[in-house]
Amino acid sequence: MIADYFKSKKIVISAGPTYEKLDPVRFIGNYSTGKMGYALATELANLGADVHLVSGPTALSIDHPSITLYRIESALEMYDICVREFQNADIAIMSAAVADYRPEHYNDIKIKKNEEILTINLVKNPDILATLGKSKKSGQIVVGFALETHNEIENATEKLHRKNADAIVLNSLNDAGAGFKHSTNKITIILQKGRIFEFGLKDKTAVAKDIVTCISENFN
Ligand code: CTP
Repeated sequence: MIADYFKSKKIVISAGPTYEKLDPVRFIGNYSTGKMGYALATELANLGADVHLVSGPTALSIDHPSITLYRIESALEMYDICVREFQNADIAIMSAAVADYRPEHYNDIKIKKNEEILTINLVKNPDILATLGKSKKSGQIVVGFALETHNEIENATEKLHRKNADAIVLNSLNDAGAGFKHSTNKITIILQKGRIFEFGLKDKTAVAKDIVTCISENFN
């Protein structure tokens, strides 16, 4: 039974974009709305899970007695909370669109437009999904997301292995209405040992139900 499977399980979910600060008024970010992660959090909390939602800046609100919400801005802040909370968690679902890079230097004062060409050095952020995948203990499950434009299954499968995840939820940018900025999504779930499950275009609440059902059926 799906409800029994998630009852009292601690689940860490990352959601939304991260903002990487340049100066007091500017940042590098992306268009992620956080809807997928928030839908997963609500679905799992309704099934009795103890949900820890680590969210970048979004316009969404969430209020559920079984959801602890951590509002963060940067990838480094998201990393610290996810790593800490995953230690005694059962499942991690990393749906955030984490900025791969952050500015090397933060300017305490607003950058002035003195230069014709402004160069900003970026340094790589730690990969939260890969960190959890590589540190997971027996019994812990780590689920990641992938956004691909070509060789989708092949690239997502490579990501599954490289980050030592148990499942990757693949969004294809080739599907109209799927992924970023939309309230619908079309996913394929890739598990270890070449197991692949394809789903149709649905709203993100229905997609969350499919992901949760797939986890409970395959990791029970
Ligand atoms: N992720 C993460 N920490 C990062 C970068 C990504 O946890 N610093 C997670 C995302 O939350 C998502 C998955 O890794 O679960 C996406 O992997 P990523 O390698 O960023 O894939 P894409 O965004 O598809 O990009 P690319 O193909 O450029 O690697």
